[in-house]
Amino acid sequence: MSKQADLIVGLQWGDEGKGKIVDHMAQTHDYVCRFAGGHNAGHTIVVGEKKYALHLIPSGVLNPEAKNIVGNGVVLSPVDFIKEMHQFENLEGRLYISDKAHLLLPYHAEIDRARERMKGDKAIGTTGKGIGPAYGDKVARVGHRVGELHEPRKLAEKILAHFEMNRPVFEAMGVETPDPQQLYHELVEYKEALEPYITDTTLLVWKALDEGKKVLLEGAQGTMLDIDHGTYPYVTSSTTVSAGACSGLGISPKAIGKVTGIAKAYCTRVGNGPFPSEDFGEAGQRLRDNGHEYGTTTGRPRRCGWFDAVAMRHAVRINGVDQVALMKLDVLDGFDEVKVCVAYRVHGEEIDYVPYDLEDAESVYRIYKGWDRSEGARNFEDLPQEARDYIESLEELIGCRMGIISTSPEREDTIVR
Ligand code: IMP
Repeated sequence: MSKQADLIVGLQWGDEGKGKIVDHMAQTHDYVCRFAGGHNAGHTIVVGEKKYALHLIPSGVLNPEAKNIVGNGVVLSPVDFIKEMHQFENLEGRLYISDKAHLLLPYHAEIDRARERMKGDKAIGTTGKGIGPAYGDKVARVGHRVGELHEPRKLAEKILAHFEMNRPVFEAMGVETPDPQQLYHELVEYKEALEPYITDTTLLVWKALDEGKKVLLEGAQGTMLDIDHGTYPYVTSSTTVSAGACSGLGISPKAIGKVTGIAKAYCTRVGNGPFPSEDFGEAGQRLRDNGHEYGTTTGRPRRCGWFDAVAMRHAVRINGVDQVALMKLDVLDGFDEVKVCVAYRVHGEEIDYVPYDLEDAESVYRIYKGWDRSEGARNFEDLPQEARDYIESLEELIGCRMGIISTSPEREDTIVR
């Protein structure tokens, strides 16, 4: 029987600190595979003096032994991908792109931004990268796949026909039809840069699993941004939960082994949409400052608030989480008290599950005594008693063990229980 893959998934609204855990695990895995999202995701990795910005290329790129797969569930912007590739040398033989991944082309980003402008105060607050329109085209069956780059002439014709058919829509949004020659030349450039990496990645992952290789599945964004299970319509357009790894790579649910869910010790969200445990006061600002909560992809300040145990219980169940990695515990250091959302009040009624619409949900808080310093702790026993109580109480509330606790950005400052 083939081995199972390990999976990393975000449990909140993205930005949980998956990077630190994925980078660490990528050192010990033979394959690292992205299964959803696009260049809306992002994290920075510092190795010695050098800084690398990763948006689409899996984190295994920094392990010279690892092979990196961009799965069919991803939407790939060739321009941005090629830029990202330039940070690295010798990618051939260790980077593979699914021929079934969908292309995200410049007009998708233009449409994304035009739609946001038109929505005014109802805007989703997207990253403006074109994610929604690219996935929209995929589902509407008018998208283009990476495999079509093999024949740029044919692809250019199809793109132009799409513009012709939808002319009034594009015009209303102020999106210009590409110049045929320029479009063709761009597609040829994409082909030349990407062709060596394009392949059937499903077969590759199957083979890796059959050979007993260590395979890591790297999720992007978080559960509350999932197209089905998040706070729709204030979500991204992909399946960010564990199940997305099956469809986004072509593996069966039985091929998924240990699921590690990543959560911060508090909560953040970028963009609009409900966030019941958001703190608009001093505490929220302090979390933002202490946690350096500004977007990696867009630089936007993140909205900050308290750990939401109700949403987390929902996420643990949906993703089949075996262990939670609790990140950035040290950001809570020095607070007199720390709050946790333990239920929602919706129209006067208290509920302990995530309802259809979180818009009207208010947080019901439990208050914990704060602690001075957890920063740098490497053993659970070294944490202040109040921090241990906080973690043990969270485990009970969410029904899952916190097997990893991170107490600073440093790789070594990690408690493994
Ligand atoms: P889109 O994915 O650009 O369409 O944005 C949709 C929503 O998802 C917006 O609220 C974004 O802020 C959010 N989002 C997308 N990617 C990320 C991410 O990597 N971290 C946090 N939020 C994200």
